[in-house]
Amino acid sequence: MSAISIVNVKKSFGSLLALKGINLEIKEGEFFGLLGPNGAGKTTLISSIVGLCRLSEGKIGVLGHDVERQYLQSRRLVGYSPQEVNLDRFFSIRKILTFQAGFFGVRRSDRKQLIDRLLNQFRLEDKANQPYYRLSGGMQKRVLIAKALVGNPKILILDEPTAGVDVEQRLELWNFLRGLNRDGTTIILTTHYIDEAEELCQQVGIIHLGEIRELGTPAELIDRYCEKKIIPDHVERGTLEEVFLKVTGAKIN
Ligand SMILES: Nc1ncnc2c1ncn2[C@@H]1O[C@H](COP(=O)(O)OP(=O)(O)O)[C@@H](O)[C@H]1O
Ligand SMILES: [Mg+2]
Repeated sequence: MSAISIVNVKKSFGSLLALKGINLEIKEGEFFGLLGPNGAGKTTLISSIVGLCRLSEGKIGVLGHDVERQYLQSRRLVGYSPQEVNLDRFFSIRKILTFQAGFFGVRRSDRKQLIDRLLNQFRLEDKANQPYYRLSGGMQKRVLIAKALVGNPKILILDEPTAGVDVEQRLELWNFLRGLNRDGTTIILTTHYIDEAEELCQQVGIIHLGEIRELGTPAELIDRYCEKKIIPDHVERGTLEEVFLKVTGAKIN
């Protein structure tokens, strides 16, 4: 069964067609990257999967559950970290996670153990009682991922998980995400950092102006778009960045 099955999904905001008929299957266990320039429709598509955005047309299934007709069953299977923070920046990290545990119906007697485990897993123990706003950008992103994992989801969806984070902390986040995927969590992330998708993702979809323009492994896409250059002692195969530029015609920031 697919982790996520998206069939002919359209979404309009007034006269703007933000999603123009998306078809996409994401397999269980996959690390999938949705890559696209700003305004491509990444957040709209992700919001549709977690039921925050009503579809204009089409349907989406999460492990076989329809996101609109079976909202609770499908939502329970997904951990979601939004692009815009949806928490009180003055709350301590422990309080943020405790609230989320309540929201996901974790029994009161199990909450402390769950939260201690997440604080430990994301190396946030010594920040547990600090308010969110005092943490560095990379730590804040770790909190968002920990928060998304509170319901012990099979699928983790992260909208721009490393935006605005410095290089070292990005590498650290990548390691956390790789570990989660290795342990069996299906991960879907959106990014406009091409190197991030090339580094982490087994499958990449390039979305532009509300359409999936290309789909494949980074190596397949590079083969499809880049000419191999044979230089005396090695072969240059091109990069996903070149592919992205050709597919979207966009300039990279
Ligand atoms: N709530 C909304 N109301 C009106 N237009 C929106 C809304 N959300 C997104 N859009 C528009 O839909 C398009 C896709 O946006 P978005 O999904 O946020 O792109 P991305 O996440 O790839 O940057 C953009 O043109 C954006 O302006
Ligand atoms: Mg976005």
